[in-house]
Amino acid sequence: MSEVLLSAKNLTKRFGGLAAVNDVSVDLWRDRIHVVIGPNGAGKSTLTNLLSGDLPPTSGSITLGTHDITSAAPEQISRRGLGRSYQKTNIFLPFTVWENVRLAAQSRAAQQPFNPVRWLQSARHDAAVNERAEKALELAGLTARRDFIAGAASHGEQRQLEIAMTLATDPQVLLLDEPLAGMGVAEAESMVELLLRLKPHHAMMLVEHDIDAIFALADHLTVMVNGTVIASGEPAAIRADRGVQAAYLGRNTDMATHANANRQDDPNNPLAPRSHNTAPTTRHGHDPDLLIHAIDLHTYYGASHILKGVNFQVRRGETIGLMGRNGMGKSTLLKSIMGLVKPGAAACW
Ligand SMILES: Nc1ncnc2c1ncn2[C@@H]1O[C@H](COP(=O)(O)OP(=O)(O)OP(=O)(O)O)[C@@H](O)[C@H]1O
Ligand SMILES: [Mg+2]
Repeated sequence: MSEVLLSAKNLTKRFGGLAAVNDVSVDLWRDRIHVVIGPNGAGKSTLTNLLSGDLPPTSGSITLGTHDITSAAPEQISRRGLGRSYQKTNIFLPFTVWENVRLAAQSRAAQQPFNPVRWLQSARHDAAVNERAEKALELAGLTARRDFIAGAASHGEQRQLEIAMTLATDPQVLLLDEPLAGMGVAEAESMVELLLRLKPHHAMMLVEHDIDAIFALADHLTVMVNGTVIASGEPAAIRADRGVQAAYLGRNTDMATHANANRQDDPNNPLAPRSHNTAPTTRHGHDPDLLIHAIDLHTYYGASHILKGVNFQVRRGETIGLMGRNGMGKSTLLKSIMGLVKPGAAACW
């Protein structure tokens, strides 16, 4: 039977007149992943900051194990077994992967009683610290990268490193703010595998936007909008909730329809080409308001085929929203239009 390791009741955080987190309660269980989702500005990071002690709540309470940590400092909460990573990667870029993890492990050594022999020793030779760092490195799948300079590691490896640093502090509860942010498909998959490996030994709360990862990982899903929880429960039930769909997409509609929104035959699709009747017939066109017209855009990075026949038009006064999962080619599309990467086969003006 799993146990609740962290329990937050009725948390509110006000910034002046804004309730960034409004009466939110969360329980985190060992061996369960609780994913918090919501549009930008919903209050997800603020909630994480309240649980980790980075921000004091305006009201409400937080219990970690049997300890009330509502007014505790972040370092005290960390010592009680809560580890977190931030939305923006926080590592020491000039140091090696190993040095980063060892520094995190060393932060725990400072708690031990004063020992003059250890005090005079180089921290590099502290066997307990090295062992903890080694274990964290291995858990995060970074052992082979230990001597790499962190700043030269890939974005995915840097995110893994941040988690390794968190693990080196021996946490029971993990709060991870967008661990997959900015990752490509392969990096995201390996991060999902890492999080599933960590799950049996930890209670975890993830903030995430990556839909594939959310449904691969979540045992429990909470949806926040404007600081408030609008839905919380089993992922399948949340997925089917029309209020959640409306909150994400701005109107009452079926998510499944939008998952296929790049289909060329979808009449609701803002990226689908308009009827040929309205398209210009020459490169210089007869429609002076047609500012961007992309036809069958294909873009490659080496052998990787990123854009596969993208068509769309943008007219004067029109705003096109481009949405899609991580690694799906949104930035590549913008770069292709700007000429920063060269499309393989296309017309775009
Ligand atoms: N320190 C702060 N001072 C004032 N307002 C803040 C502060 N931190 C966050 N906010 C505001 O609180 C609201 C919630 O922000 P928060 O960063 O928690 O959202 P989020 O759900 O994490 O968004 P995102 O998905 O963009 O990361 C926003 O309106 C934000 O501008
Ligand atoms: Mg955030």
